[in-house]
Amino acid sequence: MSPHLLSVDSLNREGVDHLLRVAAQMEPIASRQQVTRVLEGAVLGNLFFEASTRTRVSFNAAFCRLGGSVCDTTGFTFSSMAKGESLYDTSRVMSGYCDAIVMRHPEQGSVAQFAEATNVPVINGGDGPGEHPSQALLDLYTIDKEFQRLGKRLEGAHILLTGDLKYGRTVHSLIKLLSLYDPLRITLVSPPGLEMPAHLVDLVTSRGHRVEMREHLGTDFSDLDVVYTTRIQKERFTEEMNESFKGVSDDFVVNKGFLDRHCTSSTIVMHPLPRDSRPGVNDLNVDLNGDPRLAIFRQTDNGIPMRMAIFATLLKVDGLIAEDLRPVRWFVPHQTGTLDR
Ligand code: NCD
Repeated sequence: MSPHLLSVDSLNREGVDHLLRVAAQMEPIASRQQVTRVLEGAVLGNLFFEASTRTRVSFNAAFCRLGGSVCDTTGFTFSSMAKGESLYDTSRVMSGYCDAIVMRHPEQGSVAQFAEATNVPVINGGDGPGEHPSQALLDLYTIDKEFQRLGKRLEGAHILLTGDLKYGRTVHSLIKLLSLYDPLRITLVSPPGLEMPAHLVDLVTSRGHRVEMREHLGTDFSDLDVVYTTRIQKERFTEEMNESFKGVSDDFVVNKGFLDRHCTSSTIVMHPLPRDSRPGVNDLNVDLNGDPRLAIFRQTDNGIPMRMAIFATLLKVDGLIAEDLRPVRWFVPHQTGTLDR
């Protein structure tokens, strides 16, 4: 694995499988049965220049659960970038303070540029509409775990990616990761103007996957194994897009009706979250709350073991976990959410 995680392009099948295995080993720590201190003394710098709840907090929690400590800054206003400091200078400065850095930034390519000035591992926590490799890894980990539970195989699976496939960085990373696996059937459905970039469709097709693009969700679907929905990334729209975009029509909505019509009891529904729950927005519908096929909170929980696996691998302590485990001593509820199944 490269010293950084900037794009899923740096991972081959072997590297991904390694991370899936290490993440599985992290489960007892992530689910608060055991503790480890393999990163005791290490410091993470978490630099978030865009809105975030789960990515920032789960990277933070994952590092802490490995025994490390975290320093973080959020937004441009309270960082020296507001005073005109370059990515290069910020990177060099942070390298003197931290052993690993996670960065989220609104510009595509910015995190890679930041990483050029440092030998400390840098993880891309989302660079504008570019990539979000750790999210794609936790998504793949979720699919793998859910398929094991359901007795399914990834080979030949039918995966629907829907929503904003143009600006949604999670699906850009995910489709590339999926393409490393045995031939899949991938269906892409997005509102007009928000289609998956052509170079990604070409890449996946050239790797032998069957890719189909549809104009809406109204037609018949068969054998869907995964329905992966995404939020419309309005904050990334050009002015022209802002003027022409009329909102998401009912034809694109994933709700209980869609699942009952087109899916089986073993279809899983995923979303990187946040979902926009404001009226009229037509993001993933809340009428699925409590439905066992809705995997979104199992997916967010999986962010911890996968992000722990990423840190442990980049900082080369992945081989030490098994011999550095102790039982937890505080109270842990049987299930963390009230709606969990
Ligand atoms: C996504 C992101 O920031 O790219 N969220 C996340 O990290 N889980 C998706 C989004 O903002 O819609």
